[in-house]
Amino acid sequence: MAQRPYIVGNWKMHGTRAMLSEARAIDRAAQRHMKVEVAIAPPYTLIHPIHREAEQIVVGAQDCHHEAEGAHTGDISAAMLADAGAKFVILGHSERRQAHGEKDALIRAKADAALAAGLRVILCCGESEETREVGKAVAFVKRQLKASLPEAGEELGDASERLTVAYEPIWAIGTGKSATAADIAAMHGEIRALLVELYGDVQGNEIRILYGGSVKPENAAEVFATPEVGGALVGGASLTADSFMVIALAAAETEDS
Ligand code: 13P
Repeated sequence: MAQRPYIVGNWKMHGTRAMLSEARAIDRAAQRHMKVEVAIAPPYTLIHPIHREAEQIVVGAQDCHHEAEGAHTGDISAAMLADAGAKFVILGHSERRQAHGEKDALIRAKADAALAAGLRVILCCGESEETREVGKAVAFVKRQLKASLPEAGEELGDASERLTVAYEPIWAIGTGKSATAADIAAMHGEIRALLVELYGDVQGNEIRILYGGSVKPENAAEVFATPEVGGALVGGASLTADSFMVIALAAAETEDS
């Protein structure tokens, strides 16, 4: 059975307690759109306050350390996130790969740590403009995913429950450029084939593949109508309930049509 569309707000480094009212508004609106799973990944400092109040939305984090505890000043473990109320963690975002030099092996170690702490994982992938221009986008993304996704097996359990993949072409984030529906469908189709190869027919076909290249109220309906798009990882447009819920509603309407 197909899973509900998954609409996740990545607040990045935005939000103080003044944003709690926005989270409340998102939570209230999400209660009216039960056909869609709505989630927010706020900065660490807001995970617990949002979790404590939320009735419908799920709260997650934007990163975690790959070890359970230790002398890692400034880092945070998956178990601490779970303790604060997080249910998932975004890993391998291009901003962390670029600004913090995170490599695939580290991202896989983080994914294993997150799963061990009971969190679900949203694993990000995506190519740069240069890679796309030389025609290597598909090979790059597949290699990235193969090296960073957790391995199938007992520890992972049901991959479709525990894993989500987010395709975020770097060249379409904050650049004003956008991928066409054909670009998105082609890449998501390739990712689907890889997931089936890695996790088998049943689970590989159920894992949701989110699109995350600057999804906005204006392009959401087109994105959700694209084959193999199971939701969205939304940056800037998730910072207000008004714009974020237009996107969630577009996903709900695609389910109806
Ligand atoms: P924007 O939606 O702000 O372009 O960000 C996309 C993204 O990086 C989501 O993780």
